[in-house]
Amino acid sequence: MSFSQKLAIVTGGASGIGLATAKLLEERGAKVVVWDIQSIDKPVDITSNESIAQALSELERVDILVHSAGIQTYGTATTTTDEVWERTMLVNVTAALKVCRAVIPKMLETGGGPISLVGSVQSVGAVGNSAAYVTSKHALLGLTRSIALDYAKQGIRCNCVCPGAIDTPMLRWSASLTDDPEAALEACKKVHLFERLGQAEEIARVIAFLSGEDSTFITGTAFMADGGAMVAVGGAAFQENGTAQAKG
Ligand SMILES: NC(=O)c1ccc[n+]([C@@H]2O[C@H](COP(=O)([O-])OP(=O)(O)OC[C@H]3O[C@@H](n4cnc5c(N)ncnc54)[C@H](O)[C@@H]3O)[C@@H](O)[C@H]2O)c1
Repeated sequence: MSFSQKLAIVTGGASGIGLATAKLLEERGAKVVVWDIQSIDKPVDITSNESIAQALSELERVDILVHSAGIQTYGTATTTTDEVWERTMLVNVTAALKVCRAVIPKMLETGGGPISLVGSVQSVGAVGNSAAYVTSKHALLGLTRSIALDYAKQGIRCNCVCPGAIDTPMLRWSASLTDDPEAALEACKKVHLFERLGQAEEIARVIAFLSGEDSTFITGTAFMADGGAMVAVGGAAFQENGTAQAKG
């Protein structure tokens, strides 16, 4: 799949899944513009309408949008503070709307195009102690479906890519919050049927597929890229001592 002549915006493109996606789209011929608050040359804060408008004003056209920027936060429904809740919603949900609201009209000028919002397995299921994050990722799937529905006839496709645990700085940071980061990463591996972490490049290839001409009949999906994490009832680890074995 060649993306020559295509202009792609990748939010969160300075790290992890976004960085791998930006590299892959570039390798495949796209001109890639990264919108990331961590970018050294031109930082873009996607929680700011002004920052988005400034960055967008430099672009003549937009053919592909990949929204990977996001933050991880922790807490249950009773321990999540207003500050953590609001920051999580601002970066993970409101900023996605701000980016799409600004970029979609630009994409429509040239007939639309594909949008990939990076959700999570937590767009369709919950992980403990992650109330704000889980809620934000579920909301991103709702936004995906709304955009798919409202803009299909104008040539926009919108999918929510739902990765499992991917070996990125975000995951390593999450593991570092625990007493035993190596054990935490091992536990993350067990979530997947392959018993390993996903690599950012594997998600980048899924996003490239959803951003290209091989996926023109796919829109509004929760596109699972989770190593089968959501397949097994009760999670993969439970299957080793599942009910049938327990009875036997
Ligand atoms: N790593 C995983 O296991 C995993 C699993 C499922 C979903 N995800 C999701 O994938 C996406 C990418 O995660 P990652 O693991 O690559 O994380 P990461 O932390 O490596 O990269 C996220 C990037 O988003 C940027 N960002 C954060 N706030 C921003 C803002 N206000 N404006 C602009 N950029 C901002 C950061 O600077 C960073 O470069 C996130 O939405 C995350 O929730 C990650």
